[in-house]
Amino acid sequence: MTTEHVEFGTFEASLARSRALEKDLEQNPQKHTILTGDRPTGRLHVGHYFGSLQNRVRLHKLGVPTYIVIADYQVLTDRDTFETISENVHQLTIDYLAAGLDPSDGKTFIFPHSHVPELNQLLLPFLTLVTLAELDRNPTVKEEIAAAGLTSINAGMYTYPVHQAADILFCKATVVPVGKDQLPHLEVTRTIARRFNNRYAKNKPVFPEPQALLSEAPLILGLDGSQKMSKSRNNAIMLSADEDETARLIKKAKTDSERVITYDPENRPEVANLLLLTSLTTGRSPEEIAEEIGDGGAGKLKKMLTESLNEYLRPLRARRKELEADPGYIRQVLQDGIKVAREEAIKTLEEVREVMNMGL
Ligand code: TRP
Repeated sequence: MTTEHVEFGTFEASLARSRALEKDLEQNPQKHTILTGDRPTGRLHVGHYFGSLQNRVRLHKLGVPTYIVIADYQVLTDRDTFETISENVHQLTIDYLAAGLDPSDGKTFIFPHSHVPELNQLLLPFLTLVTLAELDRNPTVKEEIAAAGLTSINAGMYTYPVHQAADILFCKATVVPVGKDQLPHLEVTRTIARRFNNRYAKNKPVFPEPQALLSEAPLILGLDGSQKMSKSRNNAIMLSADEDETARLIKKAKTDSERVITYDPENRPEVANLLLLTSLTTGRSPEEIAEEIGDGGAGKLKKMLTESLNEYLRPLRARRKELEADPGYIRQVLQDGIKVAREEAIKTLEEVREVMNMGL
């Protein structure tokens, strides 16, 4: 074992690297492979859409092959509900497709990792490249344990970042678009790639060291205005909600007692969040919208947002309905994704065995 440690690094350094990486993606899309992923815990909401989905679709349109791993094993790290996993995988895939990721371009591969055995096997050699102390120090894992209020922690919780390294490295991804909370996991992945290469493949590295691409997309708060939008916090508008439900939810959104609408994220987070959503769905600046509403108050703001959000999501929701009515197509998309992912994983595992001196 090497003595260097997993470096969790600074956010500013990651942001600077991300900006340089954006440029390179635009100039040399053929040099890159993107991998991103989600846990299948339910349908996606408006916060996911503006926070990450939209960015994935944009990057993908640069012509970079994109693998999207649905991390179904990871769901079991902090909950024991398995009954809904398959349904959630389907719903998540529908949300991806409705948002504009399009596997018919031959460059988008969506698959649940439980169906790619060779990817999962990479976990075993990778587990020998990190120490227990390193796993124990991962800040995101610590936060998740606290957030879920776990009294008994399964080993999958501590080791899933290593599994995530397998998710990323099996296809030799170079770019991983992620939110801030995933940066520690990306550092684990980079460390594993580096240690693997140093130990087994000094002259001809097997793995690239993938880079995080931090989205500069805004953080969308929930309709309570006090925390991140999230289904489990009951403050979300789902992409699959219909127009009346959207109107009802926005109507109940928390605001403040000041009549005149101003854009002041620091002091008026609830109103600012509604203005931000109106801005994202109209293409106008939040300040301009605030000025226009003025003493029309929260009622007018909510009316504007309801209209612009429903209009913005109308095509996505129509496409979502069509996809929901065609489960055979969703299954086909996943089967196609699994097939390509397995081809890549088989090749990588063979290389791994070879350099580890486990060939026959
Ligand atoms: N840990 C990620 C999350 O909770 C999901 C995930 C699993 C992932 N494997 C990945 C993200 C690989 C990026 C790359 O959201």
